[in-house]
Amino acid sequence: VLLEHLDFFIFFLLFVGATVFAWLFFCLFIAFLIYCFYIKYIHMKYDHIPGPFFLGHSPTFLRIMKNDGIVHNKFLEWAETYGPVYRMNILHYIILVVTCPEATKEILMSSKYPKDRFLYKRMFNLFGQRFIGTGLVTAIDHETWYKQRRIMDPAFSTLYLRGLMGTFNERAEKLMDKLSDLADSSTPVPSVLHPLLRCKTSPVQQLAFPQSHRDLSERDSVKQTLPFQFKPKNWPFIDEVRKACRLLRTTGAQWIRDRRTAMQNGDDVPKDILTQIIKTAATEKNMSEEDEEFMLDNFVTFFIAGQETTANQLAFCIMELARHPEILDKVTKEVDDVIGMKQEISYDDLGKLVYLSQVLKETLRIYPTAPGTSREIHGDMIIDGVHLPGGFTCMLSSYAMGRMEKFFKEPLKFDPDRFHPDAPKPYYCYFPFALGPRSCLGKNFAQMEAKVVMAKLLQRFDFSLIPGQTFDLQDTGTLRPKSGVICTIKHRKYKN
Ligand code: HEM
Repeated sequence: VLLEHLDFFIFFLLFVGATVFAWLFFCLFIAFLIYCFYIKYIHMKYDHIPGPFFLGHSPTFLRIMKNDGIVHNKFLEWAETYGPVYRMNILHYIILVVTCPEATKEILMSSKYPKDRFLYKRMFNLFGQRFIGTGLVTAIDHETWYKQRRIMDPAFSTLYLRGLMGTFNERAEKLMDKLSDLADSSTPVPSVLHPLLRCKTSPVQQLAFPQSHRDLSERDSVKQTLPFQFKPKNWPFIDEVRKACRLLRTTGAQWIRDRRTAMQNGDDVPKDILTQIIKTAATEKNMSEEDEEFMLDNFVTFFIAGQETTANQLAFCIMELARHPEILDKVTKEVDDVIGMKQEISYDDLGKLVYLSQVLKETLRIYPTAPGTSREIHGDMIIDGVHLPGGFTCMLSSYAMGRMEKFFKEPLKFDPDRFHPDAPKPYYCYFPFALGPRSCLGKNFAQMEAKVVMAKLLQRFDFSLIPGQTFDLQDTGTLRPKSGVICTIKHRKYKN
């Protein structure tokens, strides 16, 4: 009897289990069908816009990233094939890549078009740990962003940056000392990039940080996918990244606390961006806890935003100068004329280094270290006669536009004269610092720093590239030279 009941009980359990499973399966199937219809609807809405092919593009992008390729090269290739606006599909998500100067102007110069949630929200957390949060780069809502930008702006004003010339000089001298130790030895400098990365001018960027910090910005979007996180072999990496994130934020909080206390005590504090940020923030009435949290988000933001972009620009610049001796001679002569043997470079000297500015601008045309930006477009738009129904993400690539023949003749030729003061200004096809209200806050800071470092480098050293190295790029979120730019460095003759 007991066995008979047990049979019945097992049968009952199996029956209930099978029914629940069937219902679950049915619901999932219906959800899947609805999703398929939604994708179909999205396709119907956007398929009149030219684009590479009907199926989604995620496999193409994953393949490019896996093979260490540059996604923006694909954007460029498709722009040449499909014209000033084309469509990419990633499941139901639609990205329209725009390489039309008028549309670029309309979209970037207006605050009507917010940054794109899909991409920027991913940087709020890294593997569940708060990272950039809603700092300046990632803030999407206009109010949240504007409140912070207003607080930060004075720390990057020309007036304030002028006062930082001493710091710029001092930090660049430290780099020159490092290079001086390496110069004239028979061993090549493993990478010009490395000493550059270790010698940053802002105190925020001098933060001691474990090796894994470099991975924080690398391929976030791929590494944050579920398949990546589910693989046990990736767990130690994920754990390290989480720890690095936590360390960066707690260090930031400590730095802000210490600096604030020192300021309140009337101590002599360095005249740097951190001090200015705190000073400016303190003048705001009703600083809430949320504001303090934003300040920390921004500490991380500045650490990441200013970390590699300038160093990579300098590395690309050295790479191109070493490949073009006539340009190198011309820019060295300018540095000799303006700076001579002087050690302390003044703000006014920077203004006189016109050709060096051109060289740095041309470097960012071919190698925009932050290669693009994106916006959400909610309303309908017409670009180049194509009707674009609202509800898409717009991708604007300075990399693609900077390398298009229709905007720059012989685009791969490194030619600083394109940026001669008398040459016509590129019309909304060159935006390595983005444009409009969400353009780079650190633009002037970065270019002053770059000029000081380059001027001192040219003043003191001859450098040449070790033959046989690749000039390929590497995309780690920011662009960098794959080889690292391996050089031999010698003191310039007249210095000896
Ligand atoms: C060569 C060096 C640099 C390049 C090429 C560069 C490029 C850019 C670009 C393209 C953006 C727009 C990002 C986007 O739309 O997602 C941006 C934003 C930003 N950058 Fe830079 N950057 C550089 C250096 C710096 C430095 C040194 C700092 C700080 C010290 C900095 C701070 C920022 C901030 C705070 C934003 C966000 C601005 C806002 O939305 O209000 N950048 N940068």
